[in-house]
Formats: sequence, structure tokens, C-alpha cells
Amino acid sequence: MNKKRQIIVTNALPYANSALHLGHILEYTQTDIWVRFQRMKKNDCFYMSADDAHGTPIMLTASQKGISPEEHIHDVKKSHEADFRDFLISVDNYYSTHSSENKELCESIFEVLKKNDHIEEREISQAFDSKENIFLADRYVKGTCPVCSAENQYGDNCEICGATYKPLDLKNPISVLSGETPIEKESKHYFFKLSNFSDFLKKWLSSGVVEEGIENKLSEWLEEGLNDWDISRDAPYFGFNIPGESDKFFYVWLDAPIGYIATFQNFCAKANLDFKEFWKSDSPTELYHFIGKDIINFHALFWPAMLKSANMRLPTKICVHGFVTIDGSKMSKSRGTFILARDYLNNLNPEYLRYYYASKLSNSAEDIDLNLEDFVQKVNSDLVGKVVNLASRCSKFITKGNSGYLHSKLDDEVLWNKFSAASVAIENYYENRSFSKAMREILSLTDLANEYISKKEPWRLNKDPKNKDKVISICSMGMNLFRLIIIYLKPVTPVLAERSELLLNEKLHWESAQSPSINHKINEFEPLLHRIQKEDIKSMLDSANGGSK
Ligand code: MSP
Ligand code: ZN
Repeated sequence: MNKKRQIIVTNALPYANSALHLGHILEYTQTDIWVRFQRMKKNDCFYMSADDAHGTPIMLTASQKGISPEEHIHDVKKSHEADFRDFLISVDNYYSTHSSENKELCESIFEVLKKNDHIEEREISQAFDSKENIFLADRYVKGTCPVCSAENQYGDNCEICGATYKPLDLKNPISVLSGETPIEKESKHYFFKLSNFSDFLKKWLSSGVVEEGIENKLSEWLEEGLNDWDISRDAPYFGFNIPGESDKFFYVWLDAPIGYIATFQNFCAKANLDFKEFWKSDSPTELYHFIGKDIINFHALFWPAMLKSANMRLPTKICVHGFVTIDGSKMSKSRGTFILARDYLNNLNPEYLRYYYASKLSNSAEDIDLNLEDFVQKVNSDLVGKVVNLASRCSKFITKGNSGYLHSKLDDEVLWNKFSAASVAIENYYENRSFSKAMREILSLTDLANEYISKKEPWRLNKDPKNKDKVISICSMGMNLFRLIIIYLKPVTPVLAERSELLLNEKLHWESAQSPSINHKINEFEPLLHRIQKEDIKSMLDSANGGSK
């Protein structure tokens, strides 16, 4: 028997600024499937998530709405929680980075970084909007590209020629907030000396914490040399004050990952666990972060360097996924493909998308296309036409012909053994996040099961009463194959699994695949899942286009 593992799992904390969309849902589905699989394997998972509540955009949105940032992040958190719940995301704690635990942790980690001489204070000059009285991040300055003269470019880089520059290098720069010309102004900033950690990071990143493709990308960055990281922001800002400063705050990306620890601390207080034990540098607990490819530097460079300096445990794995595209292109409001989680949920069953994403997910950071036609076709054919159909074909003979009792013997033991033995391969696929391979394997088993029933033709045999035993034996075999398929699909489609458990009159665990269900009374078949109708897709797209908002 393998030892029971203890794993803290996180997904990236969504900004408490706007509603979740189907891109976010990819990440949370991927994480949730992995967590549910681990739980089925009887490992202990602590699945932690939270809203990322700080930063300038959140402050500005709140002020536009005429409410306080606290009120704004409260409302958004409610909507995120509802979306996650309805997409069957099984987090153990959903918290907020705007918490007392997080504030204390940020202060104490900052003090350690300072004590270890990794913090430096420096005067820097930045664009400043003297009308709004605020320093301007690069994205809040627009103007003409100094290299190619393209108009209307942001202050960090040109979308036309690719040049990178400082906001005040733009020709005719204006503040997006006031329309005024920004001035240059100096202020003191705190820097984290990331370059002190180059050797540590090189070594740590080559120890298998990230997949190879990501490791190569990170090596390139390390070769180019690491810049020190500006971790402070001037008032006005929504965040935590830097200790000893009244008008300086921690940059949101400093406090956000520390939010992982704070969320876990908050969970431990409720669960009566000693959270500090889990963050000691030698903790045997594993730590898995699931993130998108756009935030690798924060998780694979800044974050481990901070943890290292604070003498805390490091991540075990950083699992990076790609971006969702819809019908081949980036989600876009103008194309009507910016689909919010709620637009989907108002029209379609969450398990369809969970299954579709699973059938596309691998452990690489390649983008994933949600092709809506393929989505309808695949869900209807695989889940409804093949998986559910198997149970509906077989169960009625057992209910009618044998008072609901499965046969005492398997009709085809060799076939059953093949299905049962597949658990090893499928288990490895789940563990390595090769979900598409797991789905392919499960579907090919489902095809075999349906072929078996089609060949045996119980409906034809059943016409002659003397075949009764044979019919029950065949259909019990079919139900046993269905049972194994559902065990394997359970991390992906937990509600379908729950309904099937009701039908099979049994709770299914991963090790249930090691023994068949014989002489066992099952319940009457109730529809398990409906086909997707084309109109449901249309109505989802209508609401994404502003119909119901
Ligand atoms: N708040 C930060 C994360 C802080 S973690 C300490 C953030 N938030 S986010 O809301 O912009 O993104 C949350 C996650 O969703 C990120 O991992 C991001 O990569 C992912 N996605 C956002 N859009 C996505 C797609 N279109 N497709 C797939 N994932 C995407 O980043
Ligand atoms: Zn340009």
C-alpha cells in the first residue's frame, strides 16, 4: 500500500474586479479534477483558493461605481463563489487576500526579507497624473510609439512594432485617467533583490518542479539576468501599508501569493490544524500550484525566492496550463465570444464543459480551443450516446427480469479484467494531468462495452423466456462495465457519478474497480444526462452578447 499523501493545492486567485469567464473555468476545472482524483485515491487534499482583492484597477472600479473597495470586493467574491459552486469546484476554503491573516504574514515575511538584506530602498521617477494625484502604472498612460509612431499605444510596449519603452518615452503621452499630460515625479520604492537568488532558482527549477517546456523558458530568463523587483506602490492604492510607511503599500503581486498561506491559515483555524507545521522548510506535505502561462514569473521566480528567504517550504510542483480560445480565436467581446461563467451556467450543464475541457487538457501549456460545434458533438456522442446509453440499455432487463438483482457471475471475466486493469494507466494519466489521455482510454473502454452488448443482443435473446438467465448475465456484465467507466469518470463528472451511484446502489471509490458488483440489488434507471440542444448554445451566445446582462 502506498503511503497516504497530504497535498495543499491552489489555483491562481482571481482578481476581485470582474466576473469569471470560461478561461478562468478551465483552470479551476483542471485543479478540481486533480483534487477529486486525489481524494478518490484517499489522499488528503487541502484545496485552497481566494479572491485577489488588491491593486489599482480594483480601487478605480470601486470608485467608478461609487462604492468602497471593500464593498466592491465583497460583491465580486459572492459572484465568484456562486460560479465556482455551480461549476462543482470543490474548494475547502475560499478566502480573500484582504484579510488580517494575510496582512500579518506579509508584514512578517517582509521583515525577514529586510533582515536578510534582500530589500533595497531606491528613488525612482515615474509618470504622475497631477490632476488625479496618482502615479500611473504603464497601462494607464497612452500615446504615440517613439519608434514607429503608431498612435494610441500603451506605456509599456507597442502593439504594432513590438518596441518596449517607459511610459514617458511615448510621444504626446496622456493619462488614461484624466486625459492630462503626465509629469515625471520621484518617489522612494522598495525593491526585492531577486538577483541574489539566481543560483538558488537555477538549481531549484531544474529539479522537476515545472514541465520541461516551462523550464526551458525560465532558463532563458535566468540567463538574461534577473532584475530586482519593485514591491511597493504609492498612495492612493488599495492594499496593505508597508510597515513604518503611511503612504506606501505592498504591490498586489507581493501579497497575492502570500494569500495562499493566509487562506490555509484561516482554514486551519477552523479545522483545528497547526498551519505553521505545513510551511516549515522540511514539511512533508506537498504543495501544488495550478496557474496559467501568463503568471509563470510570479510563481516560479519571485514566489520561491521569497519563501526561500523566509525559510519556508517551497512548492512541490507548479502546473501551468495554456489559454482558452473559442472557435479558434481569443475570447473577444466584439465577436461575442467573451463568455462569462454565468452565461454558460444559465444555459448548460457544468459537467458538459468539465468533460470537454478534460478531453483537451494535457500537462503542457498549449492553448485549448473550445470549438462549440465539436463541444456539442462530443458531449452528445460520448457522454450521452455511449456512457449513459450503456446503463439505459442494460438496467431495465435487470429491473424487470430479476427484481433488480445483478447476476452472481460475470458473463465475460476476461473483458471485465481488462477494464479493471485499466485503472493503473488511467490513474497515472490523472496524476500527471494528462486528462485527455485518461478520457481517450475511458472512451475506448466504453466503445468496447457497447460492442459487447451489441454483439450479445440481449433484446433479441429476451424474446425467448428460456434465455432469461443469459439475458440477466449479459446485462449484469454491461452494468459492471458501466460501473467501472463511472468510477474512472468520477473526478470529471461528479454529479453524473452521484446519479449513477444511486442507480448502482453503491458509493464508488477508486479501489471499487478491483472487484465486480455481483448479486447486488440496483435501483430503477432514471435519466442521467440530457443531450445538448443547439438552441442552448445559441442562447448562451446571445447572453454573452449582452442579451441578459
Ligand atoms: N490575480 C492573479 C493571480 C494571483 S495568484 C497569487 C491573476 N488573476 S486573473 O483573474 O487574471 O487570472 C486567474 C487565472 O486565470 C490565471 O491563472 C490566468 O492564467 C487564468 N486565465 C485567465 N484567462 C484565461 C484564459 N483565457 N484561459 C485560461 N486561463 C486563463 O492572474
Ligand atoms: Zn511602435
